[in-house]
Amino acid sequence: MAITGDWDRRISRRTLLKTGGSLAAGITLAGIASGPAFAQASFDSYPFTLGVASGDPSPTGVVLWTRLAPDPLALGGGLPAEPYDVRFEVARDESFHEIVRRGTTVALPHEAHSVRVELFGLGPRHEYFYRFKAGDEISPVGRTRTTPPGNAMVEAVTFAFVSCQHFAEGYFTPYADVAAATDIEAVIHLGDYIYERGASEVRAHAPALVIRTLDEYRIRHGQYKTDPDLQAAHAAHPWLVTWDDHEFKNNYADEDVDPNEPVAQVRARRAAAYRAYWEHMPLARARKPVGPDLPLYRRFHWGAQATFNVLDGRQYRSDQPKSCTDDQRDLSGYCPDDLNPERTMLGAEQRDWLLEELATTKARWNVLAQQTAFAPFIPQLPEPRGFVAGADHWDGYVAERQRILNWIVEHGTPNPVVLTGDSHQNWVRNVPPDFRNFDGQPVATEFMGTSISSNGDPTLKGRFLRYADDPVNPHVIFRNNNRGYVRCTLTPDTWTSEYRAVSTVVRPQATTSTLATFAIENGRAGAQLAGTPSM
Ligand SMILES: [Fe+2]
Repeated sequence: MAITGDWDRRISRRTLLKTGGSLAAGITLAGIASGPAFAQASFDSYPFTLGVASGDPSPTGVVLWTRLAPDPLALGGGLPAEPYDVRFEVARDESFHEIVRRGTTVALPHEAHSVRVELFGLGPRHEYFYRFKAGDEISPVGRTRTTPPGNAMVEAVTFAFVSCQHFAEGYFTPYADVAAATDIEAVIHLGDYIYERGASEVRAHAPALVIRTLDEYRIRHGQYKTDPDLQAAHAAHPWLVTWDDHEFKNNYADEDVDPNEPVAQVRARRAAAYRAYWEHMPLARARKPVGPDLPLYRRFHWGAQATFNVLDGRQYRSDQPKSCTDDQRDLSGYCPDDLNPERTMLGAEQRDWLLEELATTKARWNVLAQQTAFAPFIPQLPEPRGFVAGADHWDGYVAERQRILNWIVEHGTPNPVVLTGDSHQNWVRNVPPDFRNFDGQPVATEFMGTSISSNGDPTLKGRFLRYADDPVNPHVIFRNNNRGYVRCTLTPDTWTSEYRAVSTVVRPQATTSTLATFAIENGRAGAQLAGTPSM
C-alpha cells in the first residue's frame, strides 16, 4: 500500500539530535528507518548545493546519491566533521503522493558527507522520483528509472553518452538538452568528469592549482557539481559512469611509473583521486575504493535489446608504448612496442571478463563504453606515416585490440558498438578487421563523442571537418569538432546516433541542434549517414 509523502505538510522540528552510536559505515537498508540519530540537524545555509543523482540501475533497483555541502569550495564542504542523519523518500509520482520507499541514512564526515541509498525490490523499467531531507532542508527532486527485465526485447531504448567536461574551459551547456529529454533512459559518462590542473579561462578552477590531496580532489568535484546544467542532467536520468585519466592525472597508466615521482606518492594520490570520485558518483558502496583500487568496470543489461560493458582503460593498463626511430617502424608505421602482445589496456582480468561476455551474449546490441579511440587511425602528418609515438589510445595497444576483434569475428558477437570519449571531437569510425587493412568489411562500429566543454568553443570556422574524404583512413566516415554529446536510439532493427551540438560553451545559455545522424542496421557492422548533415 502506498504511503503518502508528508515532508511538505509536516511542521518541521528543529531537533538537536544526539551524537554518538556506532552505525556501521552508513549502510542503509532501503525502506527501513535505520540506526541512531546523529548530530545537529540544522544548517546555516542550504546543504544540497550539489544536487542529487542516481546511477547503476537494474530491473529492480538503482543507487541514489547526494552530498551535504553548504559551502562546497570550503574544507569539509562547510560542515563540521560530524555525522548527519539524512532521510530519503522514493515515490512513483513527482508530488510524492505515492511513496514506495522511505528511510534514513547517515552522511559521514570521512566520506565528505556524501550519501548513497541502494534501492532494491522496485519494478522493472519504471520511473521513480526521489528526494532527501536533512534537518529542515529538502533536496531538489530527482527522477530515475529501472531497466527492463532480463529477457524483454523492448521496442526502443534511448540513451545519451557524454565525456570531457572542463569547468574552466566552458559552461556545461550540452547538459541542458540532455536534462530536457524525457525519453533518455540513461546517461553514460565516458570520463574526464573533472580535470586536475589549475586553470582559469571561462571560469576559474578551485583550488587554483594542480590537485593532489583528498581535500583538493573533493573541492574540485564539488565545484564541478555546482554547474546547474550538470545538476539538471543528473537529476533527470540515471547515469552509468566510468573515468578516463583526468579524474586522477593526465595520461596516467595504472600506477604511472615515472622516475620523477616515487611510486608510494603516486599511489597515495591515486587513492585520494579515486576516493573523491567514488564520494561524488552514484556508485554502490561495494565500489568504495580500498587504497588506490576502485573496482569500476561492470555490466548493464537493457533486457535483450542491449548490453553495456562499461570499461576501465586506466587502472590496469600497461604504460604507453615506447617510441622508436623511423627505421624501426614496420610498413604500417607501428613501433615494435605498439605491437607487443604483453602490453594491455584492460588488464588480464577485465579482458577475460569482456571476452567471455562477447562470446556468450544474446543481446541485440553489445556496447563497449570506454575511454580512448578504438579504431585505428593514421594522422595525416608528414612522412613516415605519422604514427604518434607513445599513443595513449588503442593504436598503442594493438595486440590486445586485435585479440578482441578476432574474438568478435570468431564468436559472431551480435552488433558490437564501441562508444568513446577523450578526443574532444566527434567521429564515426567503422572498425576494420585488421589494424593494417582499413578496407576490410567492418567488424564493429565506433561512435566517438566530442567534449561537453573541454577545449571551449571550436576555433575552426568550418564546423564540419571531414566526411568520407580521407583516402588514408577510408573507415573514418565523420569528423567534427563542435561541443555537445551523442544521443542514441536502439530498436531491434536499427541503431541511430544523433550528434547533438551546442551553439556555445563560453556563455551559460546555448541552443542545441543535431549536426548529423548515423545508423547501423542489425547484423551489418558499419554506420551509414542518415539524412543530410545540417552543417
Ligand atoms: Fe578530455
